[in-house]
Amino acid sequence: MIGVYDSGFGGLTVLRHLVDAQPARDWLYLGDSGRAPYGGRDAHTLLDFAEQCVEHLFDAGCRLIVVACHTVSCVALRHLQQRYCGPGSKRRILGVTIPAAEAAVRTTRGRIGVLATQRTVSSRTLVTELAKLGHRDVIQRAAPLLAPLVEEGWERSEIARAACARYLEDLRGCDTIILGCTHYPLLREALEGGTDARLLDPGPEVAARLGDWLARHPGFDDGGTGRLTVHCTGDVETFRTHGSRFFGAALPDVRHVVEAQSALASLVVDGSPVGQVVRPSQPPPRMG
Ligand code: DGL
Repeated sequence: MIGVYDSGFGGLTVLRHLVDAQPARDWLYLGDSGRAPYGGRDAHTLLDFAEQCVEHLFDAGCRLIVVACHTVSCVALRHLQQRYCGPGSKRRILGVTIPAAEAAVRTTRGRIGVLATQRTVSSRTLVTELAKLGHRDVIQRAAPLLAPLVEEGWERSEIARAACARYLEDLRGCDTIILGCTHYPLLREALEGGTDARLLDPGPEVAARLGDWLARHPGFDDGGTGRLTVHCTGDVETFRTHGSRFFGAALPDVRHVVEAQSALASLVVDGSPVGQVVRPSQPPPRMG
């Protein structure tokens, strides 16, 4: 069973491509919908949420997890890999950032634009990955209004078209724009009204890269029966009905999972972290 983790509904747009590419496998999707949106959250909260979510997927029997959420992939992937997939570990966690960057570099003839959540943009992880591939002509635009518009079901509305056009004004001159948030594929029509650039949905590329990865790692081939299981931290009925819009098909019954023995504390950190954030195995100091 392969785990797929997202902040909520959006990762279902990635799951669509994963399931289409590997229909015979078993999938467990976890949407942290009770705590979404992630896009404006601070990095250390994201690390906490991401640890809980991947631990849940590992406990449920997944050995391989795809982090479908761009915000988590940009901020927390390296931390998760170091914490859970060290030498000798039989677990793996893959993300969406490198496939997105590779596809963009293959597509562009000039400037790449990144349209994403505030946290993805401030991490600069996509900019870093593009630079590693030799591409430095990049501009980013955070679009915090867009995911809530899609959550509301307003992706075809006049408001959505106006918001997309406004954000895209700041990405003028790009020939390729990475849709760096799992909600944005639903806004394709509205976005196309505001730009001539190629809009790159990383979902198909993530699915292709996962196929390559599985071929190179036959030890992770658990077979499967084509079963899809869905867990979420928010309201299950809303998730099932609303989620089908993102998945493009009906979802099975959704199981509710909650944070147990949670604690709130004031966290003392130095400055505002940029890029991948890696925490030592000891948790940072907590007060309060
Ligand atoms: N799944 C998030 C991402 O791809 C978008 C929604 C959110 O802010 O939680 O970045």
